[in-house]
Amino acid sequence: GTTLGASAAEKGRYFGVAIAAGRLSDSTYSTIARTEFNSIVAENEMKWDATEPQQGQFNFTNADRIANFAATNGKLLRGHALLWHAQQPGWAQNLSGTALRNAAINHVTRVATQYRGKIHSWDVVNEAFADGSGGGRRDSNLQRTGNDWIEAAFRAARAADPGAKLCYNDYNTDGINAKSTGIYNMVRDFKARGVPIDCVGLQSHLGTSLDSTYQQNIQRFADLGVDVQITELDVQQGNNQANIFASVTRACLAVARCTGITVWGVRDSDSWRTGQNPLLFDASGNKKAAYTSVLNAL
Ligand code: XIL
Repeated sequence: GTTLGASAAEKGRYFGVAIAAGRLSDSTYSTIARTEFNSIVAENEMKWDATEPQQGQFNFTNADRIANFAATNGKLLRGHALLWHAQQPGWAQNLSGTALRNAAINHVTRVATQYRGKIHSWDVVNEAFADGSGGGRRDSNLQRTGNDWIEAAFRAARAADPGAKLCYNDYNTDGINAKSTGIYNMVRDFKARGVPIDCVGLQSHLGTSLDSTYQQNIQRFADLGVDVQITELDVQQGNNQANIFASVTRACLAVARCTGITVWGVRDSDSWRTGQNPLLFDASGNKKAAYTSVLNAL
């Protein structure tokens, strides 16, 4: 293929990009998104603070701009993210206990119902594990409602949108380490107990080197019977950037259950990693060496 999306599709995969509704009127930006990618995800517009700014009052205006861009242009749509400790509305930050648990599950149900049938994969829970050597859960208001909050969220999401693949998504999980092993153990437990989970998202916000166990880590999740998706790929600019992008692409293609890759923004100037130039297109919208190396790897 001559584009990332078409080439990935030939391999039975998707190649996606995170989109910001406020940038869609920039024609350089929207043309690249339309031309090169076959899946999109909202960078911020489907998060809790955006979709439920006041408790029980849902606002899908900006989320719908993303969803409509996907529908109009024939793109797959990922959902990101139903529950997360960050980017919560102020009212949720001020809740705890049963009130927070009920509000969180209501949020999952309401948002997943709103987009029922339109989302190929939902990040149901984002970033619930701690960094470091412990391999346990991150402390958060959601975690303090009880350790079963994650499975409750997955059950609610399944009930609301039975057709969507339900993912657990996290960062610093780009090799075999304590954090990814903690997640691995949770997924294994969920599969054993029939908690609905279909996929694990590896965000893959990468620095200037790639963990040597990157592919092995993908493979061990796949061997549990879940798909793996690379969900937020960006790579700090450096001598090795193009190689790392290619290695990630090859690792995904090497594992049958690695079903797609999403990069976290269009151009370097759109990235949340200010000054790191971590994407596939430069600020002018030109293809970088990293772009060519991904296309050649597909
Ligand atoms: C980031 C967005 O890119 C920024 O625009 C926003 O200010 C903060 O969130 N992990 C995630 C994403 O799961 O939702 C985050 O996106 C990046 C880290």
